[in-house]
Amino acid sequence: MLKLILDEDTGIDDAIALTIAARDKDIELLGVTCTYGNVTVDESVRNTLDMLSVLKRDDVKVYRGRDRALSSSSPYSPHEAGRRIHGPKGTGDIVLPKSRQKEEVMDGVEYLKTMMESRSDFTLVTTGPLTNLASVLLEEPQLSSWKGKVVSMIGAFERRGNVNEYAEANSFKDPEAARIVFESDLDITMIGLDVTEKTRLYKRNADEWRESGSEEGRILSSLLSYYIDNTLGGDETYVHDPSAVIYALHSSYFTTIPTPITVVTEGRERGRTIKGRKENARSSVAIEVERDKVEAFLSNIKNYF
Ligand code: BDR
Ligand code: CA
Repeated sequence: MLKLILDEDTGIDDAIALTIAARDKDIELLGVTCTYGNVTVDESVRNTLDMLSVLKRDDVKVYRGRDRALSSSSPYSPHEAGRRIHGPKGTGDIVLPKSRQKEEVMDGVEYLKTMMESRSDFTLVTTGPLTNLASVLLEEPQLSSWKGKVVSMIGAFERRGNVNEYAEANSFKDPEAARIVFESDLDITMIGLDVTEKTRLYKRNADEWRESGSEEGRILSSLLSYYIDNTLGGDETYVHDPSAVIYALHSSYFTTIPTPITVVTEGRERGRTIKGRKENARSSVAIEVERDKVEAFLSNIKNYF
């Protein structure tokens, strides 16, 4: 059984990643920390609690993390593109039924610190900017040599970015944080656009989820349809955040190369993920993916409902 903590900026593809983590029989979801990005941190907490309730996983605890990039003096407010892709509140054109659960009192960075200090038997999967994890390392530098694994949907290595020619959205939103994390000694795998743009979720997945007749299938179907219409259009879309959870579970579907990674923090390439110089780095980057296997996995989501 794979033990996971998710760190999310819960918009639509984060919600699909959350569904896999909350419902797959091979995953034990220990907790979710929230950050800003696709939405504000308040919306990320709300969407995470509501999705977990839809998925009948009210038992999973949700923690509020940082609300802004390390270098920012004010809380992050999503740009127009984020609002368009994920909808006005991060849940497409629907309003999720409200969960009665509340976020935990403990702060998200504190929770990650406490968990990393006390155990290393879980994988931390991040699907938003890396501010929470960088904050952990700034406060407790010795956690740089944490023995657990980190898997992050972030960056673009041999591929152009999706915010501009150079940068992917999660690294663009907090390049300083991403740099701290990648230049640490963490065992981290970068699941970037090099692989997430090579696989697809389809309208037919959304149709199958709706046909399950369950409330959660109907809600996820609406979310995916909205996301398809506002990203690639037509019948399909990229598989960003779910790819990180799938990698954590089935790393053999991906080809990775061990390489030091760093992040450009100045000039027009700000947010670009590039090869670093660090010796003995424990980081890897995914460069290829077995598309059929990932899409077959995604097709199985219908069996969760
Ligand atoms: C990443 O940016 C966000 O919009 C998605 O949720 C994903 O984490 C893709 O670049
Ligand atoms: Ca995300």
